[in-house]
Amino acid sequence: MKYCLLLMSLALAAVVAGCDVGDQIPENKAPGLQLTDFEPSSSCAPCHPQYVEEWEGSMHAYSTNDPIWMMANNSLQSSTGGRLDDFCWQCHSPIGFLTGNTPSSIQMESLPAIVREGVNCDVCHVMRPPHTTTNQSIQYNIEPGKVKYASIPDPMPAGVHESGYDITFSRSEKCRECHDLIINGVPTEMTFTEWQNSTWGAMGVECQHCHMRRYTGQAAVGGPVRNNLHRHDFVGVDVAITDFPNKDVQRAAVDSLLRNSASLALLAPTSASVNDSVTVRVRVTNDRTGHNLPSSVFFNRQMWIELTVWDAQGTGYESGHLDVNGDLKDKNSAVEPNADPDLALFAGTLYKRGEETNVFELDSLVNNSIPAFESRTPSYKFLLNRTGVWNIRARLLFRPFPPYLFRNLGAQQYVGELPIFEMVSESSTITIQ
Ligand code: HEC
Ligand code: HEC
Ligand code: HEC
Ligand code: HEC
Ligand code: HEC
Repeated sequence: MKYCLLLMSLALAAVVAGCDVGDQIPENKAPGLQLTDFEPSSSCAPCHPQYVEEWEGSMHAYSTNDPIWMMANNSLQSSTGGRLDDFCWQCHSPIGFLTGNTPSSIQMESLPAIVREGVNCDVCHVMRPPHTTTNQSIQYNIEPGKVKYASIPDPMPAGVHESGYDITFSRSEKCRECHDLIINGVPTEMTFTEWQNSTWGAMGVECQHCHMRRYTGQAAVGGPVRNNLHRHDFVGVDVAITDFPNKDVQRAAVDSLLRNSASLALLAPTSASVNDSVTVRVRVTNDRTGHNLPSSVFFNRQMWIELTVWDAQGTGYESGHLDVNGDLKDKNSAVEPNADPDLALFAGTLYKRGEETNVFELDSLVNNSIPAFESRTPSYKFLLNRTGVWNIRARLLFRPFPPYLFRNLGAQQYVGELPIFEMVSESSTITIQ
């Protein structure tokens, strides 16, 4: 029963109750699953209001509403002549995927409300082990119905649903299907594996420890006070860019997480002679993130070092500053391409036969993100041609997306919504004699 990769509808539940490994359905779509087999989050709200409020402002609730996801899906759908099919729906709208509600060109307004709920309460709380990493096609083992599973061993009777104890809810493997993705045989968005291979994984510090912080309270209205409940805001690095509940709360929470992700050391001399070359090194250490930094869609994220050296009369050296469009001055700058050869950007690129490509068609990739507990120490060499005291400041900055990517997608109207977060900053001075 436990290893039965069956996707049960309520109607099927009785039939499959005795299934064994031999009953596996090879297709990961669920024949016969209907929208009505899943419950909307609003039906949990009367008894679990705190959970609904936190989830509503989370990226899990945004995963289908996200206009960037929708535009990227629509654009890839046409550039691949429909070969993309429902690939992008698998994790961003599991209910749409499992019930076949996956129009090839998405018009957000015409999607059924429960499909737009993205990764909702019911999706997670009816997902069962085994949890696996797959090439391209997600293997959901999902049992929609009256039993809601989680990690309370002695739940009070709920009346409207049964409660099932499942210890995997307290473990990282619960997040694995969607947070580990191999594409065309290339390990691509591998947050779970990065975590598993890190010291955090070895120490058993699970995803939930950092992304579902513990608190004391009531799991349900009228229920007992418990000291092992879990926040459901799933704070990461991404923010809603359209109208969405609790936007300000989300931005503040991302800011706070990113300030507690990495450390930075500015390694600079305190003095030098005029016109001698000065070498400054900046060490970035991923000492508090449970996986690579950035992780997952590292090829879209931008984490970089901004270095500025200046005195009262002006700037002596800079790297990591933006062009007039707000882009970094690397190959993707429309106005100052490759004008910043020292730029330290911890991102990456996807390739197909050596040419840059999209996330569906890659056959190889370069990943410059920083694994857990590792450091990178880029160095900068320059001349300062005036005597006196100069200021040096290094900042580690992060943004979920670069503006050029929005422009390429035709999403330039959202560029103004893109925040830049300062993760950490260090300053010193150098005296030029
Ligand atoms: C009529 C009230 C009510 C409604 C509606 C309700 N629940 Fe519950 N639920 C409870 C109670 C009571 C508990 C037990 C809380 C406790 O023991 O601390 C509970 C427990 C749970 C648990 C914990 C199970 C475990 O053993 O760890 C989960 C998960 C859960 N509910 C999910 C849901 C979801 C998802 C929905 C909406 C689809 C929902 N509930 C709707 C009352 C409700
Ligand atoms: C295996 C599950 C999975 C599949 C399949 C998948 N995604 Fe995602 N996607 C995720 C997860 C998890 C994140 C969050 C990762 C992060 O924040 O770094 C994400 C993040 C994103 C983001 C950034 C979030 C934002 O604010 O817009 C975009 C855009 C996106 N995905 C688009 C796509 C597109 C387009 C496809 C199909 C080509 C796709 N995804 C397929 C799991 C998936
Ligand atoms: C992305 C998956 C996911 C989503 C979405 C989700 N939950 Fe949970 N939920 C979990 C996990 C994982 C745990 C257990 C955490 C642990 O034990 O470390 C949990 C625990 C719970 C519990 C048990 C008490 C506790 O705090 O541990 C309740 C009740 C619950 N969730 C209700 C809900 C409701 C209601 C929603 C929708 C508003 C929801 N969940 C959405 C994954 C999810
Ligand atoms: C059914 C698929 C699914 C499951 C299961 C799932 N996630 Fe997600 N998660 C997603 C998708 C899709 C996104 C990206 C949404 C977006 O940005 O549009 C996401 C986003 C996130 C983010 C926000 C990332 C960012 O950049 O802001 C965090 C944090 C996160 N998930 C943690 C977890 C944890 C922890 C678990 C396990 C308890 C989990 N997720 C289980 C699909 C899933
Ligand atoms: C030790 C704490 C810790 C653990 C454990 C941890 N994370 Fe994170 N996570 C962070 C921090 C800090 C960030 C923000 C920095 C970053 O972008 O990586 C983050 C960011 C993320 C993001 C957004 C990544 C990006 O750069 O776009 C996702 C998605 C995510 N975590 C999912 C997970 C999942 C899934 C697990 C378990 C397999 C997990 N995290 C384990 C601390 C942790």
